[in-house]
Amino acid sequence: MIEQSLPLIRGLLARGSHLPLLTVAGDQPDAKPDASPVDDATFEAWRTRFANLPADATEFELDGLGKVQVYWPARYGRATGKVAMVTGAAQGFGLEIATALAAAGAQVALADINAEGVQKAADQLNSGHGDEVALGVVADVTRPETLKAAVSQIVRHWGGIDLLVANAGIVRAGSVMDQPMNDFERVTQVNYTGYFATVQAVAPVMAQQHRGAPKCLFDIIQINSKSGLVGSNRNGAYAGSKFGGIGLTQSFALELVSYGIKVNAICPGNFLDGPLWSDPDRGLFVQYLRSGKVPGAKTVADVRHHYESKVPMGRGCTTDDVMHALFYLMDQPYETGQALPVTGGQVMLG
Ligand SMILES: NC(=O)c1ccc[n+]([C@@H]2O[C@H](COP(=O)([O-])OP(=O)(O)OC[C@H]3O[C@@H](n4cnc5c(N)ncnc54)[C@H](O)[C@@H]3O)[C@@H](O)[C@H]2O)c1
Repeated sequence: MIEQSLPLIRGLLARGSHLPLLTVAGDQPDAKPDASPVDDATFEAWRTRFANLPADATEFELDGLGKVQVYWPARYGRATGKVAMVTGAAQGFGLEIATALAAAGAQVALADINAEGVQKAADQLNSGHGDEVALGVVADVTRPETLKAAVSQIVRHWGGIDLLVANAGIVRAGSVMDQPMNDFERVTQVNYTGYFATVQAVAPVMAQQHRGAPKCLFDIIQINSKSGLVGSNRNGAYAGSKFGGIGLTQSFALELVSYGIKVNAICPGNFLDGPLWSDPDRGLFVQYLRSGKVPGAKTVADVRHHYESKVPMGRGCTTDDVMHALFYLMDQPYETGQALPVTGGQVMLG
């Protein structure tokens, strides 16, 4: 019931490009997940009913669901009123993107396999904003049932999803000559299959919102990589999974355009300040120093300099750089199926 009906009602209540937040008032143990869309007769009845809901209404009743609260967010920013879901949000790019979206006025669901990490991050965001702007949800992108449960939780909490940032990803570098198949398969499962599963869980929610509000557009943005645009030496599993992600992005864009969903990818350069590179025990800098991957490097600073010197702009990518691209893609109504490099000139499109 909820996964289909609440997003549809949210769309029916749209004012211009703004959709309200809808919160199911109590626990609904009997409200079973429903994969089938609301039928046309109910849709027409709801269209009339919700067109007549007073502009200052703060709640309505729905059969089988009980009370649903209606809330119009009052904060201001580039993402005001948007409900965003960010996967892989317990640390790194995902956490910083979620933090930036909340600062820009969005309600943000932080989804990750790291349950403790997302809960802590969501608590910090909520106390920092003095308002409920964040929700921590547990989801493993390699297990579709956990994604469905997370989406259901978000829909009960805010009524729908306007922006998906498909960010969860892992790296397991290795030579094709001897990399264990398990490593190759895990990278493919998280980065490639996991992206497919995440879109499969979220796109039907956005499609229902669009059915209710045909003029509103919604966004799926994959955090891809420069390694989705050019090969990566001794890192074929990762690069292959990211190239595949761009194939999915282009194909989803073609299919989902009729549901008002734009699908784009951002391809960042190396996030040298993030934990993947800079973690003092397990980060790539210390790993590459120990393994001698960078000839002549004697310190972590030498390894870092080696990677910075590959970038025409002389530095690594930051979340701020990624946010410029993310807001551009959200703001631009006439762009879908693109893979946008954010690499300081390291990768240039032909
Ligand atoms: N770090 C970089 O230099 C860089 C550069 C370009 C693109 N990227 C891409 O950015 C994204 C984030 O990278 P990062 O550097 O922030 O990584 P990170 O390792 O710092 O964080 C990844 C997060 O994803 C979560 N995660 C891992 N497997 C998951 C799963 N199965 N389901 C749900 N969550 C899962 C982890 O718990 C973690 O919180 C990835 O897709 C990566 O490929 C990273």
